[in-house]
Amino acid sequence: MPDISPTAPWLAQRSSRMTASEIRELLKLLDRPGLISFAGGIPNPALFDMNAFHRAYASALGQPGGGPASLQYSASEGYMPLRMWIADHMAAKGVRCEPENILITCGSQQGLDFIGKLFLDPGDTVVTAAPTYLGALQAFNTYEPRYDTFGGNGTVGLLRANAEAHGSRVKLLYLVPDFANPSGATLDLSSRERALDMAGELGCLIVEDAAYTALRYDGEDLPPIAALDQRRCGSIEESRTLYCGTFSKTLSPGLRVGWVCGPKHLLHRLTLAKQAADLHSATINQIAMHEVALTRFDDQVAMARACYRERRDAMLAALARHATDGMEWTKPEGGLFVWVTLPDGVDGRRLLERAVAEENVAFVPGQAFFPDRSGINTIRLSFSLPDPHRIEEGIARLCKVIRADLPTRQ
Ligand SMILES: Cc1ncc(COP(=O)(O)O)c(C=O)c1O
Repeated sequence: MPDISPTAPWLAQRSSRMTASEIRELLKLLDRPGLISFAGGIPNPALFDMNAFHRAYASALGQPGGGPASLQYSASEGYMPLRMWIADHMAAKGVRCEPENILITCGSQQGLDFIGKLFLDPGDTVVTAAPTYLGALQAFNTYEPRYDTFGGNGTVGLLRANAEAHGSRVKLLYLVPDFANPSGATLDLSSRERALDMAGELGCLIVEDAAYTALRYDGEDLPPIAALDQRRCGSIEESRTLYCGTFSKTLSPGLRVGWVCGPKHLLHRLTLAKQAADLHSATINQIAMHEVALTRFDDQVAMARACYRERRDAMLAALARHATDGMEWTKPEGGLFVWVTLPDGVDGRRLLERAVAEENVAFVPGQAFFPDRSGINTIRLSFSLPDPHRIEEGIARLCKVIRADLPTRQ
């Protein structure tokens, strides 16, 4: 019997940093009757356009037009009509590009993995917000970087000095500019410009993760960092931003269709990573996604916005009604998440155990979203799944447990 313990000598060292997503592990435990879950940050399945996908798959498989090609191997770069649709979609956001600037990936998650693979040597520095998207940390961790923080005191001089002190250099600035997972925060225009200034001074790339950008409920759209970058340098080919997009939050996460948009010289290398990983994304899924995007994208986005706006409002109103002293929370303009800072002394993990056991309500403790595992008194609440009535009930229950968990003051 070979030694398959976690410390087995034949395991590559980097595998020690591949840990299970606490969120995915947590979701397994949430199959309890009556549980109100604010845990899973997943789209509401009631929004999936089943008829449109049914028709799109039938047409991809049928004749004329569709047929065996939908079941065949296809180009690593992705299905050309889909890349053309995405290039137009990007242009509407101010990112002028050609289909050749688009690589189709298996969800934007795969784009993050390829970016890590292509740019990160062990010990390189990735600058991120803290908290940040856990899946990005998981994707990058395989390539053994160290992390530093964007925002707060993170000036260029300090970031560079910190990196140098570790014999490192800053390679990537990873940002989720719109309604971030987990914080719900949006970077304003000047922070986006500042990110570009910093990346220019540090000589690093920006990874712009736009997973939630379509889901805005109030206010005006802000230009993507990729568009601001292009305005500065004149052309996408000169830019330093890799934009990771996805259909997961708008049309369907299960088909696993996302994209990376960037300069061709970088896309070419990412395409080599795609070839090595899985040759190409599933042909028929790309064909079906193209068909549904072409006919249904705007309507689906409008429906999703209306549905989630109502739920976000219900959650914010319930928090205002039931919160205890010492609780603070974000007021996101879009996305799926509200981020809560708990009163001093309340630990998000311990609270989760009590909340599930005593009140049948769940959420994600915030610690996992911090590269340095701080944020003990933070939690992430998602409003995508429960209806407004259940949100009100769940927040009332949650606040009751928080009150019960407050340390007794002397
Ligand atoms: C910020 C962020 N980026 C990327 C992803 C990955 O999405 P997908 O791979 O489904 O496109 C997620 C999923 O939750 C996310 O929250």
